[in-house]
This record gives sequence, structure tokens and C-alpha cells, in this order.
Amino acid sequence: MTAEQTAVRDVRADFPILAKDLDGKPPVYLDNAATTQMPRQVLDAICDYYCTDNSNVERGVHKLGMRATDRFMRSRERVRAFLNAAAAPEVVFTKSATESLNLVAQCFGPLAVSEGDEVLISGLEHHSNLLPWRQLCVRTGATLKVAEVDEHGEPSLESFLAKITDRTRLIAVAHVSNVQGTVNPVREIVAEAHRHGVPVVVDGAQAIAHRPVDVQDIDADFYCFSAHKMYGPHGTGVLHGKAEHFERMAPLLLGGGMAPIATYEDGPVGARPPLRFEAGSPNIAGMVGTAAAMDYLDDLGREAVGAHDAALAARAAEGLRALDGVTVYGAQKPLGGIVSFNVDGVHPHDVGGHLDTFGIATRTGVHCATPFIDGLGIVGSVRASFGVYNTIEEVDLLIESVATAEKGFWSNERFLAG
Ligand code: ALA
Repeated sequence: MTAEQTAVRDVRADFPILAKDLDGKPPVYLDNAATTQMPRQVLDAICDYYCTDNSNVERGVHKLGMRATDRFMRSRERVRAFLNAAAAPEVVFTKSATESLNLVAQCFGPLAVSEGDEVLISGLEHHSNLLPWRQLCVRTGATLKVAEVDEHGEPSLESFLAKITDRTRLIAVAHVSNVQGTVNPVREIVAEAHRHGVPVVVDGAQAIAHRPVDVQDIDADFYCFSAHKMYGPHGTGVLHGKAEHFERMAPLLLGGGMAPIATYEDGPVGARPPLRFEAGSPNIAGMVGTAAAMDYLDDLGREAVGAHDAALAARAAEGLRALDGVTVYGAQKPLGGIVSFNVDGVHPHDVGGHLDTFGIATRTGVHCATPFIDGLGIVGSVRASFGVYNTIEEVDLLIESVATAEKGFWSNERFLAG
């Protein structure tokens, strides 16, 4: 066994779910772009919080209240450090990347976009980074523009530049595509956009677990992600925003914790950021778990994790491309840890069901990216996405299993003809 294989074996021991027997087979979990599994270190941190410090935060003056508040604030500081954000108030806790994007669209969008303006997105966005902008355009009378993708389904810096006009007021782009793992040149897009005075929102949901993210280096106006795609818990998201924007924005939700005082009359509402955007009791355990997941990733080394995931995706792409009748989407060398493919004449759901009989979990369908999938002229795809615990043997099992997928009732031709 190579040193790399030994290291992965050690990592696998951290994830209790991987030892589970699923109908006589261990799980071969290749659906990490949908949700990653949690290591013992994260589960223990969440359990420890509930066992030792559980209370509400920023409210009670009693000991547990102060311990919970301290842990919550330390979690925010941990997120700040993980992102290399300039200051902790630039980190807002949400319930997901989706909520983060909606918060920006609803609270920052109208400050930046008016009738006749343009909002620019890429042609491979997840619905979460499309629908909030479409709604903003409808509400404000702006136009949604789309930077085209090339023959590999990838947008380029040039495709963005071609669509920036003197009416462009906002750009939203994924750091990494959730369908095929394309890594977008977000740093360059941000630099060009800023040269035109245009703010940029980056959806980092598929990047955060696979590469170091330095928000000051990327310099986007907003950057967001979910913890459950980076070995943390569900229901927990982060929105990083530049202080100058957060200071100008009104809150999305109103209620406890986000306003120092309230009266029966009209008046200014809202504490300083980040609390202004965190009305109601927060998901404290979720943030404690997120901080623990960040510790876990940093212990493994984010560069090493990214290289591992990309190497598995490259091996999968190469092996699948070598099979007769299999189409792999995207560029030759997927760097984002995700591979999307189809087997000729077999519906992706049927391929996914077939793979499940080998214990292999993939995602199949349109991946919440319908316009992009439609643009490829397919009904959907099978997506294998890799994480820290995946092995070369699992990749090879995927390839061997795909090779035995047989033509079923569904076919792309039938669907398109019907
Ligand atoms: N956004 C997640 C995915 O791409 C759920 O699967």
C-alpha cells in the first residue's frame, strides 16, 4: 500500500458511517457534492456542546448562557480565520449557501440594481445562484444576462468580459460547478468586474471542501457556502461579505437578537453586522460543528485534500472516458473533485440505480442546474463526487460497475423525441 493509501485508510476510520453495512456492502460514498459525511471529531464537538454548554447566546447572563455565547463567538472567529476574512463581523451565519445567496439578492440587490440595469451570471449556475437573481431582475426591471459556456460547458474570463456592459451592476458566479467540477477563474473575474465598478457574489458551495479559500485574495464582495458540504452539519451556512456592504444593508429577517431596542413607532431597526442578519435563536451547535470541520480540514491540509479529490476525479474521468458508449462532461482534467457522465441509451437514474446495487452512491438527474443540463442537450447526468475518505479502489469499482450498465427502458433519444 502506498503512503497515500495508508493516509486515506486512517482518514476513513474517522467516519463512523463508512463502517456501516448497507445490505451486505460497505457504502462507497461518491455523493459528496450533495452532502459530505461527518468525522467523529465534528460529531463529538456537536455532542460536547450539547452535553456541556447548551443554552441560548447573547441573551442570558447565567454561566451556561455565557459559555454558549463564548463558544458561538469562537466559532465565528474560527470561520473568519479559515477564510482569512478581515474581521469577524464580516462573517454572517445562515442556514445554507442558498439562504446566503437569497440574503444578498434581497438585501444588497436593490441597493445595486435598478430598472434597465443588468445582472450577469454564468451558464453553469445551480438554481440557487440563478433564481434569486432572476427574481431580483423581475422586481427591479433589470435584465438577467448569461456568460456563455464553451464546448466543454465551461465559462471563461473572456465569456464574462464579453457580457460586461456599462449597465452591468452585479455578477454572480460559482467558484466550482456542482455539475462537472469546473473551477472558474473567480479571482480574475472579480478583478475585471471591479475594474468596471461591478460587485461580485461567489457561490463557494462546491469549492470550500476542496481548496484553500482566502476571501481577501479572491476579493469578492460576497462569498458563501454550506457546512454540510465540508464535513460539517446540515442547516448551517456562512455568508462572508465586505463590511462596507453589510453596513449599508437592511436585514432580511426581523426579530430577537438583531435589534438592540424596538418601539411601537417606525424607526431604524438593526444591530451592527453580523447580528443584524441573524434574527432569532441561531444554530449554535451547527456553528460549533462547522468550526470543528474547519479544524479537521486544516489538520489534513487543504492543499493536500484538494489534490487528493482532484486526483480521484481525474482517474475516474480517464477510466470512464475509456469505456465504450460513455460520455464524460467538462474539460479533460476535472480539478473540482466532481465527474459527470452518461452511458449511451441508459437514463442516468437507471445508471444510478445500477450503481447502488454495488453500494455506490452517486447523484443523478439535473443537479438543480436545469439550464446548463438543457444546454448540453441531455436529460441529466450521473455525478460522482469525491471526498477525503474516497479511495482509488472505489474509483476503480465505479468504473467497473459503469461498464456493466445495460440499456434500459429510458434513452436520451426517446426522451428527446417524446
Ligand atoms: N447542491 C447540492 C448538489 O449539487 C445538493 O447536489
